Amino acid sequence: MTAPILLTGVTGGLGAKILDDLLHIHKYPAANIIATSRSEDNRSRFESQGLQFRVADYTRPETLHAAFEGVGDLLFMSSSERDTPTRIIEHSNVVEAVKAAGVKMVWYVSLALGGFGNHSKIGFMQAHYETEQMLKHSGLKFISLRAGSYADAFPLFLNWYPSSTAVLMPNIYPHVDEGKAAWTSRDELGEGMATLLVKGLSSFPSVKPQTESNIILLSGPTAISPSALLEAINRGLGTNVRMKYLDPEPWVDLQAANDEGGKGAAWFKARLVWLQGLADGDAEAVDPALETLLGRRPEDGPTTVEKLVRAGPYYWHQNHMGPRN
Ligand SMILES: NC(=O)c1ccc[n+]([C@@H]2O[C@H](COP(=O)([O-])OP(=O)(O)OC[C@H]3O[C@@H](n4cnc5c(N)ncnc54)[C@H](OP(=O)(O)O)[C@@H]3O)[C@@H](O)[C@H]2O)c1
Repeated sequence: MTAPILLTGVTGGLGAKILDDLLHIHKYPAANIIATSRSEDNRSRFESQGLQFRVADYTRPETLHAAFEGVGDLLFMSSSERDTPTRIIEHSNVVEAVKAAGVKMVWYVSLALGGFGNHSKIGFMQAHYETEQMLKHSGLKFISLRAGSYADAFPLFLNWYPSSTAVLMPNIYPHVDEGKAAWTSRDELGEGMATLLVKGLSSFPSVKPQTESNIILLSGPTAISPSALLEAINRGLGTNVRMKYLDPEPWVDLQAANDEGGKGAAWFKARLVWLQGLADGDAEAVDPALETLLGRRPEDGPTTVEKLVRAGPYYWHQNHMGPRN
């Protein structure tokens, strides 16, 4: 039997979809998959499916050294830590442990902001750039899977809740609605990644990793404005929610004062940088790689959004964060 594949992030949405496809679409042998979590409490749910389980916590290097022992391929899901320096330390712990364990291949799940470039100023992209550099200098065999912005996370991007009667946006230049993004379905990202893990890059000769960071960009089929996502919500729910615009400072203050999810001013200031990056084109890159992996045209953002809101009350976990943010 080949060395087992280790998956981080399998208790989360993207990793769960990858694992599900490995087991049920590709019939990958469960005994040759190592599922991980920061919490030992998750052991039984994976072992009961015939999978191996190990604790892997990016903040605790000793867990990583033990977890990566004897691993062939590693799916390295980026941490959900939002503080960039802390996230970089966590990712550095992973890279060091991977080197020490002699893992054969690293599939790093990154983010597609800035396309194939390294110039996005959006805060949470910086740890991805740093991690790609670490991987590049490590001598390890790796691919950076830059994932398109989740269409599923639209409540976070628009700061929309099912109770919203308006979506507030800041007056910036270029206009927020210039911020076209190649929104991507999280399930389709998972499907594409699972296919790639099982079949390998050599099965898809047209998918060529680019730049020195070995980037494969997985995106939706077309770049679409934030208002097109709002229209999709309105179509799905039969509502007539409109965008309203405020100058940046009052926008931050008002959002932070009233946010249903408890997000604070620091979070909205960071969101301002994100919206500016979007307006500058950071999320607009479209690449055919995901279509090749899926064997069909990926869903566009509005299609995913309309489907999700029609399916029932829709919340996105990351839209509910404490006031420290
Ligand atoms: N492309 C996008 O638009 C977009 C949007 C949001 C997030 N993301 C990124 O994509 C990643 C996966 O997305 P998702 O939707 O699956 O997120 P999610 O549902 O929030 O799940 C996060 C997963 O990452 C694991 N994890 C987080 N921090 C970790 C750490 N320090 N050490 C070990 N494991 C850790 C968690 O495992 P345990 O809790 O079991 O330890 C969990 O399985 C996120 O972590 C985030 O970096 C991308």
